[in-house]
Amino acid sequence: MVGRQRRRESLVFAALIPTLIALSAAGDTFVPGDRLEDGGSLVSSDGSFKLGFFTPGKSNFRYLGIWYNQISVQTVVWVANRDSPLPNRTGILSISINGSLSLSDTKGVAYWSTPPTRVAGPVAKLLDDANFVVAGAGEGEYAWQSFDHPTDTLLPGMKLWVDRRTGLTKNLTSWKSDDDLGTGDYTSFLDSRGDPQIILVQGSKQVWRSGPWVGGRFSGIPEMRSYGIFNFSFVSNADVAYYQFSTRNKSVLSRLAVQPKGLIERLVWIQGVGEWNVFWSGPRDRCDAFGYCGIFGVCDANESPMCRCLQGFEPKSPENWSLRDGKDGCRRRTALDCQNGTDGFLLLANAKLPDTSGVMVNEMATEECREACLRNCSCTAYAMKEMMNGGRSSCILWSGVLADLRVYDDGGQDLFVRLARADIGTTGEKYLQLGWNSSSRVFRAGGSDHL
Ligand SMILES: *[C@@H]1O[C@H](CO)[C@@H](O)[C@H](O)[C@H]1NC(C)=O
Ligand SMILES: *[C@@H]1O[C@H](CO)[C@@H](O)[C@H](O)[C@H]1NC(C)=O
Ligand SMILES: *[C@@H]1O[C@H](CO)[C@@H](O)[C@H](O)[C@H]1NC(C)=O
Ligand SMILES: *[C@@H]1O[C@H](CO)[C@@H](O)[C@H](O)[C@H]1NC(C)=O
Ligand SMILES: *[C@@H]1O[C@H](CO)[C@@H](O)[C@H](O)[C@H]1NC(C)=O
Ligand SMILES: *[C@@H]1O[C@H](CO)[C@@H](O)[C@H](O)[C@H]1NC(C)=O
Ligand SMILES: *[C@@H]1O[C@H](CO)[C@@H](O)[C@H](O)[C@H]1NC(C)=O
Ligand SMILES: *[C@@H]1O[C@H](CO)[C@@H](O)[C@H](O)[C@H]1NC(C)=O
Ligand SMILES: *[C@@H]1O[C@H](CO)[C@@H](O)[C@H](O)[C@H]1NC(C)=O
Repeated sequence: MVGRQRRRESLVFAALIPTLIALSAAGDTFVPGDRLEDGGSLVSSDGSFKLGFFTPGKSNFRYLGIWYNQISVQTVVWVANRDSPLPNRTGILSISINGSLSLSDTKGVAYWSTPPTRVAGPVAKLLDDANFVVAGAGEGEYAWQSFDHPTDTLLPGMKLWVDRRTGLTKNLTSWKSDDDLGTGDYTSFLDSRGDPQIILVQGSKQVWRSGPWVGGRFSGIPEMRSYGIFNFSFVSNADVAYYQFSTRNKSVLSRLAVQPKGLIERLVWIQGVGEWNVFWSGPRDRCDAFGYCGIFGVCDANESPMCRCLQGFEPKSPENWSLRDGKDGCRRRTALDCQNGTDGFLLLANAKLPDTSGVMVNEMATEECREACLRNCSCTAYAMKEMMNGGRSSCILWSGVLADLRVYDDGGQDLFVRLARADIGTTGEKYLQLGWNSSSRVFRAGGSDHL
């Protein structure tokens, strides 16, 4: 069942149906026979959110949507008819006896609708968390909910969710612009392949990934660990994976939105100033651009040039590298030995773990993990996932290429990259701290490390 949520106040609101609610569309509920005309609205019971008709920015069109009801800036968090706005104020929302919501104009032209449900006595209700739901009397689950059909915004309690068996995702897709809320260019969702990551795509092109969830945060958002005001959670099992957040103090308003220009922003409302503040946004720099330094390349935003090859690798197209186009990436200098057991590992500290869409994750301790990698000729790197609350440790094994790798000053993970003995050097140590080393800097080697 998609986004199963415990129904709150179900008894109370079921009991009210035959009496009070059927008489009026006012308040937070809506039943067959009610009409919500342009100008009318539903308000959640605690007054937090409002559902109604609005015109964004310089648009001439009318949309049906949900916005915060208690702040001074109209901030829309969900839109019903994003790709078919009404040309004028003739929109009417109604709910049929079969539980289908429909938005039509006075001439009966349909602009938006939801599928019929099987519930008896359907009631639509705007909840205090902005979820607009359809449920039937006595039913334990929502037959339809707006949280299952997000627009561009993730709110507290909403799940960025993927069905791991079917790969079906809940997408956040940007507006075309602040004036046109139609389906825009950028989409973010949880990619279930390998170790799940939130990714941002522009059409079919991947532009950013969060990295996998490692001990309470995403590997590619190291600053996440210091967010004391949020409660983040991530669940991944055989059937589903999802990410959600809440604010520890319910009076702190925060939302995650995919912006028309291709940024994912976490915004927080600053009551005193009366505006939204960008708390975090990604991609945050050029190193965050997916594959900026190519395969087996490492990006460091504090260095110039920002791309280098991992130790033991060299640029695949030196001409392009010398022009600071790192996309072709790097190739291994010395083939792995594999059979003879002479390969070793280099430690890359403070890494954003490379793309995990093709990895294997197993519960294993560090030493087992290293052995498992050495045993498998296609294994090219491993990393341990820190588990919170004393959970069992997990081992991530990469095979083939390492893509979209960067390093941070602080707060990244340890990545162990498999190398042939010849490329580890003659130090005889099992691990070598891989720091910045001018002799391994590829641009300098190419004689073009200058602006
Ligand atoms: C509203 O727009 C519809 C569709 O363009 C049109 O048929 C209708 O006449 C308009 N109504 C008013 C009152 O302008
Ligand atoms: C549900 O109700 C709507 C509006 O009355 C109607 O158009 C639709 O055909 C109904 N669907 C089913 C399956 O009964
Ligand atoms: C979500 O976005 C992806 C990538 O653009 C697309 O393939 C998929 O069909 C979308 N899913 C839904 C439910 O819109
Ligand atoms: C954090 O969120 C999880 C999942 O929603 C919830 O179970 C837990 O109680 C929350 N913790 C706090 C401190 O709010
Ligand atoms: C929650 O935030 C509000 C507004 O910032 C503040 O007045 C209140 O004291 C906070 N409550 C707690 C328990 O921290
Ligand atoms: C260098 O970059 C250009 C433009 O992206 C590309 O067409 C070419 O194939 C690259 N060179 C090599 C050797 O890959
Ligand atoms: C592995 O050892 C064998 C026998 O000593 C040798 O012939 C072979 O070249 C070695 N392979 C590698 C990749 O070093
Ligand atoms: C080696 O790794 C590949 C890729 O992850 C995997 O398909 C294969 O099953 C592994 N082989 C063994 C023997 O574990
Ligand atoms: C830098 O590279 C040189 C030559 O490969 C090596 O001797 C030295 O130990 C390296 N330094 C660091 C910090 O890795």
